[in-house]
Amino acid sequence: MSKKVLILPGDGIGTEIVAEAVKVLDVLGAEYGLSIEMETAAVGGAGYDAAGTPLPEETLKLAKTADAILLGAVGGPQYENLPRELRPEKGLLGLRSELDLFANLRPAILYPQLADASSLKPEIVAGLDIMIVRELTGGIYFGQPRGIDTLENGERKGYNTLVYTEHEVERIARVAFDTAMKRDRRLCSVDKANVLEVSELWREVVVQVSKDYPDVELSHMYVDNAAMQLVRAPKQFDVMVTTNMFGDILSDTAAMLTGSIGMLPSASLNADGSGMYEPIHGSAPDIAGQNKANPLATILSVAMMLRHSLNQPDHADRIEQAVGQVLDDGLRTADIEAPGMPVVGTSAMGDAVAAALQKQAEAA
Ligand code: IPM
Ligand code: MG
Repeated sequence: MSKKVLILPGDGIGTEIVAEAVKVLDVLGAEYGLSIEMETAAVGGAGYDAAGTPLPEETLKLAKTADAILLGAVGGPQYENLPRELRPEKGLLGLRSELDLFANLRPAILYPQLADASSLKPEIVAGLDIMIVRELTGGIYFGQPRGIDTLENGERKGYNTLVYTEHEVERIARVAFDTAMKRDRRLCSVDKANVLEVSELWREVVVQVSKDYPDVELSHMYVDNAAMQLVRAPKQFDVMVTTNMFGDILSDTAAMLTGSIGMLPSASLNADGSGMYEPIHGSAPDIAGQNKANPLATILSVAMMLRHSLNQPDHADRIEQAVGQVLDDGLRTADIEAPGMPVVGTSAMGDAVAAALQKQAEAA
């Protein structure tokens, strides 16, 4: 039975990188008979331009019936002065929340071919393979009350609420422990329990859940220390689990260890395993439309999609192998530029991955 994938290119480089990911799906269709029905819709700034809202109703409807969603990126300077409710980011946050995509998996893997692209010394990052499990539909991103009010004296006050209920912590903790069970069985929960009550509860619930996972070695770390450890000795981590905002920050940090944020995919899953897949980088308006962006994070997001939502782990492996192959062949986009290697554009990189897949099929 054919699966339905909703394609949401979004803004900026989103359109270009998603087009390369679609090429890859097309090769899997042509060479291996992978049957996927793709539909495209607008979200973010593109949604606002088309329908006056960053999450058009039609898009949300399609998203709810799709088996998986592939998203490029949202945001751009032309939308920055819109009221918050109409900004592109609202489209993304709305999808996460409407589809209950509470579990965000953000791997930070250093491809051996890119050891020199990292801002850290090769020996510190060689072999790096971390999975950050970020809670995605709660915490300070969604907590009420929130707002900007004017006090009696005329001064304005801005506020947000950092809130987690026990069941929200429990379900993300379970995803993290399950993830750890499939890896090196070490889980570090990141919080700020020395200052915040909500973190104290977070920690208690994580400890409670850990009783169901006696084979996973659980540790706890304050977020400031975790940020430091990520750049000091990142290989100490296997799986990290944390709140929405801490995860936002730590996953960007971890991304840089791997050389380029242009290499990292992500999965956002709900309890049924359907999910949204996107590169962790943004819409990069400064290079949009110039055929410069690295499409590999989006292509690798397709691999995660095949593995986590479409039950096609073999195709996921094929894509990851093909990406390894083009890196071995010395192809580099500008963000992972290296001496002596040709810098290629977005579409050439996508073509190269597609060609590597095709070759794999012919050799099989
Ligand atoms: C991310 C992004 C988003 C976030 C923005 C675009 C709303 O930074 O996916 O990490 O903060 O979650
Ligand atoms: Mg972010």
